[in-house]
Amino acid sequence: MEDNFIVIGKSSKLKSVFDIVERVSKTPATVLITGESGTGKELVANIIHKKSDRKDQPFVAINCASIPETLLENELFGHKKGAFTDATSDYIGKIGAAHNGFLFLDEIGEMPLSVQPKLLRFLQYKSYEPLGSNDSIFADVRIIAATNRDLTSMVTRGKFREDLYYRLNVIPITLPPLRERREDIIDIANYFISTYNKKYDRNILGISDEAKDMMLNYEWRGNVRELQNVIEKAVILSSNRLLRTEDIKIDSKQLANSYPSNLKDAIQKFKKEFIISALEKNRWNQTKTAAVLQIQRTYLTRLVKELNIDKY
Ligand SMILES: Nc1ncnc2c1ncn2[C@@H]1O[C@H](COP(=O)(O)OP(=O)(O)OP(=O)(O)O)[C@@H](O)[C@H]1O
Ligand SMILES: [Mg+2]
Repeated sequence: MEDNFIVIGKSSKLKSVFDIVERVSKTPATVLITGESGTGKELVANIIHKKSDRKDQPFVAINCASIPETLLENELFGHKKGAFTDATSDYIGKIGAAHNGFLFLDEIGEMPLSVQPKLLRFLQYKSYEPLGSNDSIFADVRIIAATNRDLTSMVTRGKFREDLYYRLNVIPITLPPLRERREDIIDIANYFISTYNKKYDRNILGISDEAKDMMLNYEWRGNVRELQNVIEKAVILSSNRLLRTEDIKIDSKQLANSYPSNLKDAIQKFKKEFIISALEKNRWNQTKTAAVLQIQRTYLTRLVKELNIDKY
């Protein structure tokens, strides 16, 4: 599925992202994609490649977070035979492999400060020296970098080189979190339902109104990836044709921030959460809790009953 590179969503925020993607794909400019985990950064990088005039050339990805500091330089720039004990043959490295195509520097915020100057030099001069070599090699590579970190604050804190940041941040693309484009949630969910219906030979027809409401009020801190996982699980396990709230296995803590739209229910919900939290802080000792809340103990007992508060 990852190979289809399909983007679902009609929100204006997603549309403005895709206006930039369209325009930047045809240019050689360096792109920096930022956004929370699971918002589609890698997807967008792949789409830029597919829409570019380099679509038949390699798209080489390297994840700066998953490679140990001592090996990252070798992975990027390659080495000459004999550069170190284990270097029994030449190794071309990711930059060399990306010649004429794209290099995707994923999780660039995790790139160690020790490797950053060498990458900067490559961006400036389009040439680099493999480990153990004095010869400069030219490589024509388009760079896309991605991160879920706030690079500007890393620059301020001295964790990321400012000059490298400016080289990378020529065209910034920011992917909005799902909770800031809620109108896309149901479309994306339906898309995943049909995908997983096919994959698991299931026949889920859609989502009940109540389950939709719950999904619309949810925080989706894991963004599209979290939504994808929730739907995959639901499609496999549900015995209903329409997915219900009990099929949508979400993290109830992330629901706490959403309130009903009418004031009466919202106040009720707030009261309940507030009292539960006070009770938890006081180990469910009602006398203590009432004292902290500055109410009568009998009134607290009544509230606990009225609001259906159960110790859990
Ligand atoms: N608008 C969308 N429509 C359909 N699928 C999407 C959309 N956005 C993201 N996805 C899917 O969600 C999943 C997560 O996307 P992706 O891996 O690109 O996120 P990411 O930002 O790179 O996440 P991370 O920071 O965790 O690496 C992928 O399977 C991707 O195909
Ligand atoms: Mg990613």
